Amino acid sequence: MLAIERPTRNLSLDLLRSTEAAALAAARWVGLGRKDEGDQAAVDAMRLLLATVPMQARVVIGEGEKDKAPMLYNGEELGTGEGPSVDLAVDPIEGTRLVAQGRGGAISVIAAAERGGLFNPGPGFYAAKLVVGPRAKEAIDLSAGPEENLREIARALGKRLREVTVFVLDKPRHMGLIERIRQVGARVSLHTDGDVGGALAAVLPDTGIDVLMGTGGTPEGVIAAVAVKALGGGMQMRLDPQSEEERWALVNNGYDPQRVYTLDELCPAEDAHFAATGITDGQFLRGVRYRGEYAVTHSLVIRGHTRTLRYIESHHLLEKLRAISGELY
Ligand code: FBP
Repeated sequence: MLAIERPTRNLSLDLLRSTEAAALAAARWVGLGRKDEGDQAAVDAMRLLLATVPMQARVVIGEGEKDKAPMLYNGEELGTGEGPSVDLAVDPIEGTRLVAQGRGGAISVIAAAERGGLFNPGPGFYAAKLVVGPRAKEAIDLSAGPEENLREIARALGKRLREVTVFVLDKPRHMGLIERIRQVGARVSLHTDGDVGGALAAVLPDTGIDVLMGTGGTPEGVIAAVAVKALGGGMQMRLDPQSEEERWALVNNGYDPQRVYTLDELCPAEDAHFAATGITDGQFLRGVRYRGEYAVTHSLVIRGHTRTLRYIESHHLLEKLRAISGELY
């Protein structure tokens, strides 16, 4: 007989309010060319909301050490102090430059898992990532080259290579990778920033992206892994230090830069939570819209245990928001 499981509280719906708040705060800085102010506003808004959530949370992946940004710092305790003990990975603005420059693809993201349920990247700032959707998850192998991976992925998706689109960050370090992808006949979709969004685009249907390849932030990799796992996609990651100092720090802390981490190593938790809200328009989320008295946010929320994916549109009365939180919004 089928064992009946009782529904339980879904923490991701509480976390969603924090990404909505961060996105609303960040949206006020879109196109103003002031990266740090936007980041600070989003951090403040996210922190304010997280303080209200019944949980005993600890930030294990804060954004900012790499960029010296005003972060929700590693080790910071959040929540009301009651409820489940969780580890948090936060990125109040994923794509701070995108916000400052008024470009598409900036989102606010958060992931949570039971204590110890998220990979600890230690002093690793950068990692090579390979992400695909559910149909191609058995086809990837980060220890092989992009050519072999793309052939296998195309086969798994039932596509020709020239119909496969690869999200790559537009960085000098990727010149060789971009050339190899094009040589094999696949398409490259270049983005200046935002590889959490790129990973989600690779896993979600109908985004026009089939694969994410290349090196980006390690914290972003761990956050993405929570969503990829909950959506049934495939992901592998290898630490990819971009300086001798970073390499030494990794080796001295017992990390092997050659090792390929599986999705279950990146997110061992069975019931992890993920929420993202669009700040500027992207491939799967609309950015914040202003409609006179209220602002509209568009978010997605995923729960690992049930694998429920929700798209949520919220209408926020600006007057009420300001009454609660001052001029943040
Ligand atoms: P921030 O929002 O912290 O600026 O990160 C944006 C981002 O593009 C990430 O998506 C990506 O993982 C990382 O920066 C890449 O780092 P870099 O720009 O140093 O190559």
